[in-house]
Amino acid sequence: MSVSSIKLSDLTKSYGKQEAVHSLNLEVKKGELFGFLGPNGAGKTTTIKMMTGLLEPTNGSVEIGGVNIWRKPIKAKKMIAYVPDQPNLYPKLTGWDYLQFIASVFRIPKDGFQAKAKELLDIFGLTDRADELIESYSHGMKQKIAICGALIHNPDVLFLDEPTVGLDPKSARTLKNLLRKLCDNGMTLFVSTHILEIAEQMCDRVGIILDGNIIALGTMDELRKDEGKTEQSLEDIFLELTGGEDEQALISEMSKADQGDKT
Ligand SMILES: Nc1ncnc2c1ncn2[C@@H]1O[C@H](COP(=O)(O)OP(=O)(O)OP(=O)(O)O)[C@@H](O)[C@H]1O
Ligand SMILES: [Mg+2]
Repeated sequence: MSVSSIKLSDLTKSYGKQEAVHSLNLEVKKGELFGFLGPNGAGKTTTIKMMTGLLEPTNGSVEIGGVNIWRKPIKAKKMIAYVPDQPNLYPKLTGWDYLQFIASVFRIPKDGFQAKAKELLDIFGLTDRADELIESYSHGMKQKIAICGALIHNPDVLFLDEPTVGLDPKSARTLKNLLRKLCDNGMTLFVSTHILEIAEQMCDRVGIILDGNIIALGTMDELRKDEGKTEQSLEDIFLELTGGEDEQALISEMSKADQGDKT
């Protein structure tokens, strides 16, 4: 039986009394491009930080290729790469030196590194800027060099938190095409986004998270079927499931009225 690339079991995180992520159970297969979709504050970043070993779960576990990331962090972390929503880069390194630094951490041989770094810089149009300090890069360029850094050691599983925020349309398209290609070559991708088109256009499967709970999970076709309307866009499904602004206001009014009835 093949081992899931990512397995979450009862994964839970509380910040003080507030539960940000509630008992998530999820499996992502090798080579799958999984979209993790949810509105602001739903728990996407919290979940990804627990999956990448940066934030300790309050309860439950995360396995990467069958390895528990909290019990065997070194073994598990060798298999993954993570691009946070706000990448923390070294401003006084050049783009090239940054990639070289990451490669040395992962003990990638020099000749292998150079070819790979050139290829990645070329894909993102950064070749001409590779010798400049990262502090001189624009926001989008910083994001792109962070993605190059994540890919330099060819991870089995790549986590991206809101990867297209800050990218211009051409760069976003380049990234989408690249992610698709990486998956087709066997890499597992877990991509959080609140941008519906991204999930709709490129993901094999989508999970919708709201208030720390996965409220819908499946392929686009499955989600449409659940909602009973075959031509529905993900936006319609998303808004129906998460409640549009009008619905939210109505619910809040109704619950206030309800409380009033009881007092
Ligand atoms: N360090 C923290 N301390 C306390 N509460 C936190 C902390 N980090 C996140 N939260 C809370 O946990 C909940 C989930 O936040 P999280 O950042 O995971 O959401 P998100 O889905 O990534 O949102 P966004 O789309 O805005 O990035 C929110 O209510 C947030 O206020
Ligand atoms: Mg977030």
